[in-house]
Amino acid sequence: MKKYISTSLMCLDLMEAKNGIIALEQVGMDYFHMDVMDNHFVPNFSLSSDFIKVTRKCTQVPLDIHLMIENPENSLHLFDGANEGDILSIHYESTKHVQKVLSEIRKMGYKAGIALNPATPLNVLEEVIEDLDMVLIMTVNPGFAGQKLIPSTLGKIQKCKDFLVKVGAENILIEVDGNVSFENAVKMNKMGADIFVAGTSSVFSKEGTLEENTKKMRKILEGSLC
Ligand code: DX5
Ligand code: ZN
Repeated sequence: MKKYISTSLMCLDLMEAKNGIIALEQVGMDYFHMDVMDNHFVPNFSLSSDFIKVTRKCTQVPLDIHLMIENPENSLHLFDGANEGDILSIHYESTKHVQKVLSEIRKMGYKAGIALNPATPLNVLEEVIEDLDMVLIMTVNPGFAGQKLIPSTLGKIQKCKDFLVKVGAENILIEVDGNVSFENAVKMNKMGADIFVAGTSSVFSKEGTLEENTKKMRKILEGSLC
């Protein structure tokens, strides 16, 4: 199965956002991961719906929007304008109406994703499996870049893969988000992750240039670097 790099635009130098986006497109990113926070669901603000609109004007790369906001059903209209292949994820913990919101997301032309905080068990997926295109497993508590991986979340990736295979839903992609370093990506890849959020721990790290870091991540995902 193909593996994808979704680079986190909250890690961009915002003073140089447009050039940064062009550079990320040139190195061949598969998705742009766009973190939207409301300072309620998580204690931070990040990218806005307006920033998403201007991003669409300067790139063809599909967007992978991660909403970390309370009651997303009240704000979905701000994220209209989906292009084919764009993904929109909400958190399971953020609404009482998970199934309804997921079905609205598909009606808007997005692939629908559900994000799970580290403490949220996988069994919440069972009743919404038909409404899902992606599961986003948070490997840190959401809200900030630059955090350390929570070790128990690695096993959760494997459990999620096993569950999806068991229920015949292998078409649902697994995304991992938070401290996806080169070292952690090797493990996450073996456990069945499909989409890797690349931020300060990998493509933006000081270890190499953007191009070198991206090549290294690509090799890891191909399984040719362990
Ligand atoms: C949270 C964000 C962060 C971050 C990823 O939803 O997506 O996890 O930008 O980059 P790291 O963890 O590598 O700084
Ligand atoms: Zn995210």
